[in-house]
Amino acid sequence: MDSYKLLITGGIPLTGETYVSGGKNTSVAVIPAALLSDDPCTIDNLPDIEDVRVLVDILRALGADVSFDGAARRMRIDPRPVSSYQVPYKQSQRMRASYYLIGALLGRCSHAEVGYPGGCAIGNRPMDQHLKAFRALGAEVEDKGGMIYAHGKMMGGDVFFDKITVGGTINAMLAAAKAEGTTILFNAAKEPHIVDLANFLNSMGAKVKGAGTDTIRITGQKHLHGSNYTVIPDQIETGTLMIAAAATRGDVTIHGCIPTHMEALTAKLLEMGVQVTEMDDAIRVRTVRGHRAVNIKTQEYPGFPTDLQQPMSALLTRANGDSIVIETIFESRFKHLMEMRRMGARVQILDQTAIIEGVTELYGAPVTATDLRAGAALVVAGLMAKGTTEIYEPGFIERGYEHIEEKLRALGAVISRAPVGDHDAR
Ligand code: EPU
Repeated sequence: MDSYKLLITGGIPLTGETYVSGGKNTSVAVIPAALLSDDPCTIDNLPDIEDVRVLVDILRALGADVSFDGAARRMRIDPRPVSSYQVPYKQSQRMRASYYLIGALLGRCSHAEVGYPGGCAIGNRPMDQHLKAFRALGAEVEDKGGMIYAHGKMMGGDVFFDKITVGGTINAMLAAAKAEGTTILFNAAKEPHIVDLANFLNSMGAKVKGAGTDTIRITGQKHLHGSNYTVIPDQIETGTLMIAAAATRGDVTIHGCIPTHMEALTAKLLEMGVQVTEMDDAIRVRTVRGHRAVNIKTQEYPGFPTDLQQPMSALLTRANGDSIVIETIFESRFKHLMEMRRMGARVQILDQTAIIEGVTELYGAPVTATDLRAGAALVVAGLMAKGTTEIYEPGFIERGYEHIEEKLRALGAVISRAPVGDHDAR
């Protein structure tokens, strides 16, 4: 349990200029990929967040020489001293993306023994497609006692994903980059961070083609060399800031983002009546009138991202009219809405559908973050609400948002930390 809570006094329009940090979900794939290199790699624009720091610990425990300068957002990884292929359960449980160590270690040394991943409790989150891909590339895989044991020289092969999976696609790319022969991934995920990982691998001498489409072709290379690489900006942080700007009826320009990655959200905000102006690497979001209710259905990229469903559905609790939100990717991604009922939100939840009846006001109340994006959604809720909202377990938010409190404060938000005491609400 976190020893502090976040206090947000809402109702203040966010205004001004802000910037977006490097992508979390791209960073957690690119960092393990550096293990495939024969030489040191330098990676820039990494966000200084908990998930990145956990990966540093894991890579060091494997023997890699890693230095991370959080202020400069730069990491240097020398994989040459790596002497282990084991990531114990205690470490792997600290984050979801620890599962990328399986693909990276298989690719590097044909052996991986990695504990089950942790991460947000947003659904069942099986790994069958990852294991299927490793087996298709020649690994013997055993899933036993909370550990995945995968061994075998990687040989190119065809992988037909039964389901579109971001993690499965990335893990297969990592395992295939140095395999003997060619691998083709069918029904692959198309998220921007899949393309970013392919660009990083290619900058090391890999031959990855088709990333960003549903068929990725990887011609395995015996050796990959060191590289200096800059990761792309965070699509979900950009979206969260856009939603926060709209929610507070503010006027915010977000610099350093890639507007084309935001099309699904931009289209929905425009449908709500929000003004969104796209520039080369910036987006301005303004609200002049009230918000219309809209319907949302989460889908794989380029559809509406599940990671933005939570902050977006928080915004919809104050729209004019009823909105229907269908979550198709994860089973348990409405916990923030249940918390928001205490703030006055009117929501019915039937399996993976939320019916939101817009209200004119939300009121500050004690609420608990249950996962990263639920935490972000509750921040959006707190920014909209009258009075003070207390968010418990805010540590979830730190796992994925760099300096979020400072960024919001600079835009005018009243947000602070307070210690959790014995008489607190949680
Ligand atoms: N699935 C399977 N079998 C598998 C893999 C996935 O059935 O072997 C299912 C999942 O249960 C889910 C769907 O396929 O229903 C999609 O899962 P996917 O594998 O795409 O998700 P993930 O790799 O577990 C990543 C991000 C998530 C993001 C999803 C979807 C990381 C570390 N995590 O998860 O990010 O929601 O893709 O875009 O990159 C977050 O940032 O808050 C977050 C949860």
